[in-house]
Amino acid sequence: MSDKFLIVSDVDGTLLGDDRAVQGFAEWLTPQRTRFRLAYNSGRFPASLRKSIEKSALPEPDALIGGVGTQIEKFASGEPLEGWPEFQGFWDSRIVRAVLANESRLQLQPEKFLSEYKVSYFAEDATSDELADWQSRLEAAGLYVRHVYSSQRDLDFLPAGCDKGSAAAFLANAWGFPLDHVIACGDTANDLALFEQGFLGIVVGNALEELKTLDSSRVYHANEHFAAGVQEGIQHWLDRAEQLLAADGSSG
Ligand code: GLC
Repeated sequence: MSDKFLIVSDVDGTLLGDDRAVQGFAEWLTPQRTRFRLAYNSGRFPASLRKSIEKSALPEPDALIGGVGTQIEKFASGEPLEGWPEFQGFWDSRIVRAVLANESRLQLQPEKFLSEYKVSYFAEDATSDELADWQSRLEAAGLYVRHVYSSQRDLDFLPAGCDKGSAAAFLANAWGFPLDHVIACGDTANDLALFEQGFLGIVVGNALEELKTLDSSRVYHANEHFAAGVQEGIQHWLDRAEQLLAADGSSG
């Protein structure tokens, strides 16, 4: 497995956003598809991702991570990946909804975006004090919860320990990829958890400020936007891996 990479990419705003860039990405990836395993990792649920894959030039992936990390599904069979979700303590989505029911700043997202493991709201321009207040009210009700706030609007409550990053790490482990052979790609704060696992990272050129400020030798900031930025970043990490191998070879 050591020469292969697992690419785990967000979809909306990271791969999708420019149809020509998606087309170019697919044409670049397809001839070397066997070098990679590919997983899409989105706030949307798998069924919705499948529609986008059908309608666009997006290459077929090997797995779908949906609902902000709460679901992992094998692409070909549609079966869930066994053992997921894993989380760290007491969780009950009904309690999240009950505790926050009368909060005027929060608007529950439509039911089709909600599940047993993901309770999402719209909260325009929420402040860090507001986020901390909602989080502590949920904790006071006994929940082990993580909130993910992105695009100054989307607020997701998930079971603690279950997010885009931990789902990607679970998949990487199930498929035998070490951390430095996983390449994570994103554009907004709902991808932040993906950059907390020690993977190699790509932030696309059109990313929001919430990710642009990430500063780590393991995160590459692409100049190109959308799928072209993902492509630029993957090429960067492949070149880097080759340089390291060559240096290893010449020193040994
Ligand atoms: C997607 C989901 C939405 C979520 C957002 C951010 O748009 O449909 O429910 O809030 O991603 O994670």
